[in-house]
Amino acid sequence: MLLIRCATIADAPLLRTLIRELAEFERELHLCVIEEADLVRDGFGPNPKFRALIADWNREAAGYALFFPYYSTWVGAGLYLEDVFVRPHFRGQGIGMALLAAVARIALQKNSRTMRWEVLNWNDRAISLYKALGAEFRDRWRSALLTDDALRRLAERAS
Ligand code: ACO
Repeated sequence: MLLIRCATIADAPLLRTLIRELAEFERELHLCVIEEADLVRDGFGPNPKFRALIADWNREAAGYALFFPYYSTWVGAGLYLEDVFVRPHFRGQGIGMALLAAVARIALQKNSRTMRWEVLNWNDRAISLYKALGAEFRDRWRSALLTDDALRRLAERAS
């Protein structure tokens, strides 16, 4: 039996494990430095920076989705899906779709007009699923990321 539930502070260790499993699938585990304490502080404190759903299959943790709000100056409030992941053994029985549908319902409850996310260009299975959902792939747009020294250098530039 499938249960999709909101993650609580007690799920922080599980959430970190699942996040690392997804990072490993994405071949980027070396970049995944998040600690349990970060998740506790950022997800379950007075001003949470994200929300997460856990999918339990027969009371066993099968997957998760993690998301947070963003704002588009063109269309207004939106919801950014950072991660969706189903453990290999549980795939192909509707759990990923159930997680995505639950996130979509939360987006609509929060008056979000859009949901967006990124997917690695080699992840054909996820890409087919997203296409089947009717997602638009914005190939003209490139994703940019500023980290560590580059971020500090920019912040330290004189105005
Ligand atoms: N190709 C195309 N569609 C497929 C495939 C496939 N190989 N396999 C399943 N589907 C379809 C199913 O038929 C189903 O459609 P239907 O409801 O019309 O039958 C739909 O995809 C959803 O299938 P689910 O069983 O709900 O998917 P699953 O539980 O396996 O979860 C997920 C999908 C999350 C992509 C899972 O495979 C996974 O965790 N993969 C590894 C991690 C990953 O790629 N995560 C997404 C990264 S992007 C991000 O995080 C924002």
